[in-house]
Amino acid sequence: MRKNIAIDGPAGAGKSTVAKAIAKKLNMIYVDTGAMYRSIALFMLKEGVDVKDSKKVAEKCEGANVSIEYVNGAQQVILNGENVNGLIRTSDVSMAASYTSKVKEVRDRMTFLQRQLAKEKDLVMDGRDIGTNVLPDAFLKIYLTADVYVRAKRRYEEFKEKGENYSLDDIAKDISKRDEMDKNREISPLKKAEDAIEVNTDNLTPDEVVDYIISLYKEKV
Ligand code: DC
Repeated sequence: MRKNIAIDGPAGAGKSTVAKAIAKKLNMIYVDTGAMYRSIALFMLKEGVDVKDSKKVAEKCEGANVSIEYVNGAQQVILNGENVNGLIRTSDVSMAASYTSKVKEVRDRMTFLQRQLAKEKDLVMDGRDIGTNVLPDAFLKIYLTADVYVRAKRRYEEFKEKGENYSLDDIAKDISKRDEMDKNREISPLKKAEDAIEVNTDNLTPDEVVDYIISLYKEKV
């Protein structure tokens, strides 16, 4: 039986930092499902599709061929043959992804791909619906949370490091809006799986979160 770890939670809770480190320590593959949804959003923006028009997004998504590759252990998202890793972390793509990920056809395609990956190897997968929908039988399920301002501050620092300046308030507003959409959409909304362990990261360093989750994993093995 596979020993997959599912990590869900809202934007900026620290999922990707923590999931990446856990995968490295446990010698597992890390899958960032948000990046897959972002690549679909990027595709729609490039094609000039109104991301709020669910019908159009559903029609067009067949033309978006998404796959995952690894270069020196780092996940690369390939969209129709192009490596789009460097193009999907903008705030426009973030907001667009929150709209396009509501659409059933998009979710069905991404879920299929994610389950295929999980069949092949033990992995740490992060997202919004991994424990509830993609891998309901995951070996360990974690739900990471943090206060919205703590999350906004983290995103602010990330942007600053890249030389991009957004105000903390604007980032907090964006995050709150995406939280609302991700939690209230009809299909596979963001929510804690009943058997997930909730970890609030407000007062924990990434290393502390990683060590705690690894201790939970080792207890179960
Ligand atoms: O984790 P992230 O910020 O990169 O995710 C971008 C968007 O993708 C997020 O607003 C919601 C969506 N998403 C989703 O619906 N399901 C997932 N498993 C992962 C992300």
